[in-house]
Amino acid sequence: MPRVLRKPSRHLPFGDRRETPYYGRDILSVSQFRRADLATIFSVAHEMREMVERVGSFDLLKGKILANLFYEPSTRTMASFTAAMERLGGSVIPISEVHYSSVAKGESLPDTVRTLECYADVIVLRHPQIGAAAEAARYARKPIINAGDGVGEHPTQALLDLFTIVEEMGGVDGLTVTLIGDLRYGRTVHSLARLLAMHDVSMRFVSPPLLRLPDALRDELRAAGAKFQEHEKLDEVLGLSDVLYVTRVQKERFEDPAAYEAVKDSYVIDSELMRGARNDCIVMHPLPRVGEIAMEFDADPRAAYFRQMEYGMFVRMALLALVLGKA
Ligand code: NCD
Repeated sequence: MPRVLRKPSRHLPFGDRRETPYYGRDILSVSQFRRADLATIFSVAHEMREMVERVGSFDLLKGKILANLFYEPSTRTMASFTAAMERLGGSVIPISEVHYSSVAKGESLPDTVRTLECYADVIVLRHPQIGAAAEAARYARKPIINAGDGVGEHPTQALLDLFTIVEEMGGVDGLTVTLIGDLRYGRTVHSLARLLAMHDVSMRFVSPPLLRLPDALRDELRAAGAKFQEHEKLDEVLGLSDVLYVTRVQKERFEDPAAYEAVKDSYVIDSELMRGARNDCIVMHPLPRVGEIAMEFDADPRAAYFRQMEYGMFVRMALLALVLGKA
């Protein structure tokens, strides 16, 4: 008999399943996590970091296969899931050129995921439509990991963002975290703000009026009792921020190119500006950057965005091990 992966109801929060709470589960939104889940994921990620530093690769997921299904461009997310799987001894089916796959023949998302799960144990999906990962998960028996659903969420990025803060700052509670740029279309911001709202954090949202947080998310944060303020000027909060989380203005989400041009250069982090920031702060960015952080700043020890990418692989190793029941 083939072993069929158990896929319990996705409506339960992670922590509600006592025995093997992560095995076979989808990762669709950060809202499915509680603080205890974050602690588990981060402790496994920390072990993954130590193992990679010691031995590079090991066979925890030997024989397991991951399908990377990307309908939108990606460098880091796709490469880090591939590296994570291969460092754990597993292998990867890469489908990033969907126009060369049967998607170009008109195949639906449900059929594409039901195809890939015949071959793979877990599917990582990036798609331009909000809710696409949830839709895929309704059809798939194997776990779906949301690697970005349009302007919706990017839960694994938010987990690695929070892990970066934990590793670099020694914890999250008590910090002032300032999120800058495209708060409207930036899915990494949407997911990270929800995770930060579970902590004792003061959030500062800095954006031009056009790119403010979506109303529904603002209401959600308020209902969760999150501490936050919105600003248009970065200098109002620069000196009091422990973490500066800078984002790209999401050009591909704009209907009107002139509107993008009007806001694209709203904030630029450079060495001169950073003289006004704390010496012990960190600057993060999910990347890619297209001008919001000057390259001259890269040599500053506060520039954490390259380290952040490396933390991402450890977090994705942890998530794969947990979802495939090996951690
Ligand atoms: C982000 C994304 O795809 O949402 N990139 C990433 O996964 N690191 C951010 C962006 O594209 O600006």
